[in-house]
Amino acid sequence: MQESNQPSLAGRIEASLAERFGESVPVDPALAGLDELARIAGHRVHRDFLDRPVEPSLLRLLCACALSAPSKSDLQQADILVLNDAAQRRAVIALMPDMPWLARAPVLLVFLANGNRTPKLSELRAKPFPNDHLDLFFNAAVDSAIVLTTFMRAAAAVGLGCCPLSAIRDQAARVSDLLGLPQRVIPVAGLAAGWPARAGHITPRLGLATTLHQDRYRQGDLAEAVAAYDRRRAALRPYARQRAPERFGVAELYGWSEDKARQYAEPLRSDFGAFVRAKGFCLD
Ligand SMILES: Cc1cc2nc3c(=O)[nH]c(=O)nc-3n(C[C@H](O)[C@H](O)[C@H](O)COP(=O)(O)O)c2cc1C
Repeated sequence: MQESNQPSLAGRIEASLAERFGESVPVDPALAGLDELARIAGHRVHRDFLDRPVEPSLLRLLCACALSAPSKSDLQQADILVLNDAAQRRAVIALMPDMPWLARAPVLLVFLANGNRTPKLSELRAKPFPNDHLDLFFNAAVDSAIVLTTFMRAAAAVGLGCCPLSAIRDQAARVSDLLGLPQRVIPVAGLAAGWPARAGHITPRLGLATTLHQDRYRQGDLAEAVAAYDRRRAALRPYARQRAPERFGVAELYGWSEDKARQYAEPLRSDFGAFVRAKGFCLD
């Protein structure tokens, strides 16, 4: 039974990757774990959810799976904060006013980088801690991102849809106060999750020649690669709206590079470093 499903799974993966990268990535139908690969290759974020709760026991299971992710030096510097209380949820969502759809997300989580415990271990064991530098922040942030990704993978396996939220850092200090985060604990990303209301769609990515390197980093012709990607993406998934036409005008071909350049023509979270320092991380 399972074997007869394999060719179609392999075909689905190939179709997803062709849509994603605009090129062919052959899949051996005899490979194990094709169902998992099919979910990964077909990844898409979800922002529209059914009015159906996610059982707390299922959420706990997914969080436990997520926190089973690898951890740098086994230091375990990532935490998950589950927002259950309705008033607390509303207060956090109010800090992300551009995303009204969050109010309809059954699950709202915050993935934390926790650099608080590691120096405390040194204190508890009466040892010096000569490691209060950028690496503490970086390791904790990376661990947190890995836990977030693992949560998304676990959630997808049971049919849930997710959307990470860097917007949780737009007003990081207020979020930190609301959540009672101690020194050296900061939000890396929020995450909305629920049962998807629609299938969603694959977002094309830059071609593999740009982002997959062999032996040495290859810069290649970025302008040409981006122009090709802009055209492929505009054909498959054109932008519904152009950013800031009052400032930049209306572009004839509005591709990914134009959208990202317009997005980053505004200062974004330029106070984040100050927040991270105020939370006690040394960034030197
Ligand atoms: C770390 C991270 C933060 C994100 N923050 C937001 C966010 O604040 N709001 C949002 O709507 N989407 C957010 N996203 C989702 C991205 O916009 C989405 O992943 C991207 O458009 C590509 O779409 P795809 O994931 O469906 O391929 C975030 C994604 C990541 C990985």
